[in-house]
Amino acid sequence: MTKFKEIKANTYEDMSNEAATIIFDALKESKQFSLGLATGSTPEGMYDALAKKINEANLDLSELTTFNLDEYVGLDESNDQSYHYFMEQHFFSKLDIPQENIHILDGVAEDLQKEVEDYEALIDEVGIDIQVLGIGRNGHIAFNEPGTDFNSLTHKVQLTDETIEDNSRFFESIDDVPTEAVSMGLQTIMKAKTIILLISGDNKKNARDLFISGEVTEDIPVSILHNHDNVILITDSAARGE
Ligand code: GLP
Repeated sequence: MTKFKEIKANTYEDMSNEAATIIFDALKESKQFSLGLATGSTPEGMYDALAKKINEANLDLSELTTFNLDEYVGLDESNDQSYHYFMEQHFFSKLDIPQENIHILDGVAEDLQKEVEDYEALIDEVGIDIQVLGIGRNGHIAFNEPGTDFNSLTHKVQLTDETIEDNSRFFESIDDVPTEAVSMGLQTIMKAKTIILLISGDNKKNARDLFISGEVTEDIPVSILHNHDNVILITDSAARGE
């Protein structure tokens, strides 16, 4: 029943390189490409490796489009905890992607409902060729927490205490962590042609176990990926408990 493929990398660096290579090879193949991107500490190494490969090869990114998974509500792009800021720092500042092709949900939009609807419509129009995902300890993907409807589209979400606590390591105090976010929904993520799921570190062993158990339930958001035909899971040995 398991359709996904697992690449068992050794170190975090190996995992990052595996992911960067898959994306780089796809970008080389087709100039007009749409890439779904994730934030968090997990993909940082992948961004470094990918930017390096792209620059070494002098790849033309003029027809690359990107869509990020999510953003905190209430943080604007100048806030160093916003996902806008993260992406600029770790990836976009190193590359030449036309600004108008970069899409990240606006967490300070006046009309958040319109913002999420427009975002979903744009994804429907452009499509996503490869979507990169990290995972939360509780099996969340993007900001889709346990219990999220498998049919969900881009939407506003309430973060769980566990996620707020996990993400507080990046903030001065836990009280500074936003309690809401805007996020692609589970159904939005499923629209991507290929999905790369990165799981790294011993604190994510449980999340990998939840996924590979094969149980498909809304209590484990990542488990929806078992209904997708083209998922590549890339793990490091720590995430596998080795
Ligand atoms: C946040 C993000 C997720 C990410 C998760 C894990 O909640 N919204 O997209 O996968 O954190 O982050 P990390 O890789 O830092 O453990």
